[in-house]
Amino acid sequence: MLALKNFSVSYGQIQIIRGINLEVNRGEIVALIGCNGAGKTTILRTISGLLRPSGGTVELEGEDISKAKPHVIVRKGISHVPERRGIFANLTVQENLLMGGYVRHLTSVDYDEVFGIFPRLAERRKQVAGTLSGGEQQMLAISRALLSRPRIMLLDEPSLGLAPQVTKSIFDTICRINSTGTTVLLVEQNAQAALKVAHRGYVLEVGEIALCDSAEALLNNDAVRRAYLGDASS
Ligand SMILES: Nc1ncnc2c1ncn2[C@@H]1O[C@H](COP(=O)(O)OP(=O)(O)O)[C@@H](O)[C@H]1O
Ligand SMILES: [Mg+2]
Repeated sequence: MLALKNFSVSYGQIQIIRGINLEVNRGEIVALIGCNGAGKTTILRTISGLLRPSGGTVELEGEDISKAKPHVIVRKGISHVPERRGIFANLTVQENLLMGGYVRHLTSVDYDEVFGIFPRLAERRKQVAGTLSGGEQQMLAISRALLSRPRIMLLDEPSLGLAPQVTKSIFDTICRINSTGTTVLLVEQNAQAALKVAHRGYVLEVGEIALCDSAEALLNNDAVRRAYLGDASS
């Protein structure tokens, strides 16, 4: 469904992503794991059209979208839940959701759908988003992305700053969203949590793909365990 081919991104003269190949098949959850500064956010921002690749292509269902504008990319079915959530802190929950529907007219059915997934947001629809807890803000960011009816959702570190229990609940929800037909590309420093829900994973090290395998194989890979899963025994 989504393919990065020989894909590079630079900031000025500095090449951050060095000719990577990455694929996400329809129906999958693919985890992209890597340390802070590896280039994960840069990849997602470039897929979304916020940055331009300096080389290679981004293809959605075989169509080269690497020169398309961000709003066009959203309309084509790619929706991005940014790192640190990108919610409008001074707007209410409901107003934030309205922003997610700017590509199409929202009806009460749309709201019922997201409030069905996240009942806590329904109770708080008039609350100013900046006063929500971290977990609730993440729920809001995911809901807003869902309202554009994506075929593929890009999630940038949804677990950032959340307690383990809250992370678990967010990841359970990501699985539910995936099981109803949304393909997911999940970027995480929390490799353990990400690989537990993913079908396949890629390990990004300083702008290059170091490993690509089934999530299960990566969870059992000694090098991955040492570097990303905090396992001192292997
Ligand atoms: N706007 C920018 N200008 C210049 N360098 C940047 C910019 N954004 C990120 N970088 C650099 O690119 C590298 C990758 O960053 P990023 O994609 O945010 O990594 P990650 O999300 O994996 O932590 C880092 O070295 C970072 O300092
Ligand atoms: Mg990042």
